[in-house]
Amino acid sequence: MDSLVIDGGIPLNGEIRVSGAKNAALPILCAGILTAGSLQVRNVPHLRDVTTMLTLLTQMGMEVSLDEHLGVCLSAAALHNRVAPYELVKTMRASILVLGPLLARFGEARVSLPGGCAIGLRPVDQHIKGLEAMGATISIDSGYIHARAERLRGQHIVFDLVTVTGTENLMMAAALADGLTLLDNAAREPEVVDLAECLNAMGARITGQGTGSIRIEGVANLGGASHRVMPDRIETGTFLAAAAATGGEILLKDARVDLLEAVVDKLREAGAFIESGPDWIRLRAQGRPRSVNARTAPYPAFPTDMQAQFMALNSVALGTAVMTETVFENRFMHVQELIRLGAEIEVEGNTAIIRGAGGLSGATVMATDLRASAGLVIAGLVAAGTTVVDRVYHLDRGYECIEEKLSKLGARIRRQRN
Ligand code: UD1
Repeated sequence: MDSLVIDGGIPLNGEIRVSGAKNAALPILCAGILTAGSLQVRNVPHLRDVTTMLTLLTQMGMEVSLDEHLGVCLSAAALHNRVAPYELVKTMRASILVLGPLLARFGEARVSLPGGCAIGLRPVDQHIKGLEAMGATISIDSGYIHARAERLRGQHIVFDLVTVTGTENLMMAAALADGLTLLDNAAREPEVVDLAECLNAMGARITGQGTGSIRIEGVANLGGASHRVMPDRIETGTFLAAAAATGGEILLKDARVDLLEAVVDKLREAGAFIESGPDWIRLRAQGRPRSVNARTAPYPAFPTDMQAQFMALNSVALGTAVMTETVFENRFMHVQELIRLGAEIEVEGNTAIIRGAGGLSGATVMATDLRASAGLVIAGLVAAGTTVVDRVYHLDRGYECIEEKLSKLGARIRRQRN
């Protein structure tokens, strides 16, 4: 298993390009199932989760070709297999995103239940409840969700809680259903908007994306389209947090500040100076950041996917911060690892109290999930001495070329193949 070896204590400086968003690319690739035409998806990040999704789609009979500009061309004209097997779903929960499209286009789907994962239970009851309301018959047997429907019917669905992939699954299913679907208490995440825009380019009739109430008029067929995936706001936020924690000045290109206002507000509160244009963000920071409180919640509030990175920043900040995680239970596994680097953190339930330490010192730490790993990398960039982050495969799921990008910003970081 690969590790990242970081010699910390160097302020980040320089410019890099932000990749396409993982969490937008994954549902958009699944939207390819909804049409017999061809869907060209541009700005697809080169990540392990994307490879897993393409493997799953290929196994189903999707024709996948790649072009030299990070473009993926999909054709589901000859899709023959409607099964998402356990072996793939267990490595990536987002595989559940094939459920809605398979059911809507072919009237049948068998998708393994994702099971528990490192950051909590993460059930899929809202996906199932919504599809049943639209007329699907769903049974669970041998660990698989088996869904059938001759044709889905439009429905008014109110989510019990805000779910991103739940909203995306039902939006894709409703695009090919009979009649009108209204999704209330829907996720407002920018990735949902990006998917809706791709579906509309394919001929869907979706309005209200980006609000809590999405309206989908079902159509008989969807056609091919070409769509460019939005920039990754979590990758953007991760590099900004890293620069704010280490000090320095970075310029992120292909980045959109409007996608991460809650994060940028917190970085300003931490003392960073931020400027932006339509497709760039510049951050300048000097000395130690100031502590910032944060409470995670669905978009547009502070994202759970940035919690670990800010925990690292707060670990070296001036003052004491309170961070509360309201989206996932059990998403503080990086705390014990940060403590090994010298952080002073106490956890009580879903709240962490972080007393900024004067300095962290390098150690070997273990990554437990994707964003926790990003937090550990930030801590390693600040810590004196050498930090080794083990189990880098978590990072490879969601960060394209992270060590190359950080090296470009002047960090001393390398991959060690064990
Ligand atoms: C998506 C993101 C992930 C992010 C998360 C929250 C993708 C591929 N992943 O994950 O990076 O951390 O949003 O912003 O887009 N829940 C239920 N029942 C359901 C569905 C969800 O109880 O049917 C709960 C979950 O356990 C969790 C909360 O709702 O506590 C939010 O989960 P959800 O928004 O569904 O997360 P994902 O879509 O899996």
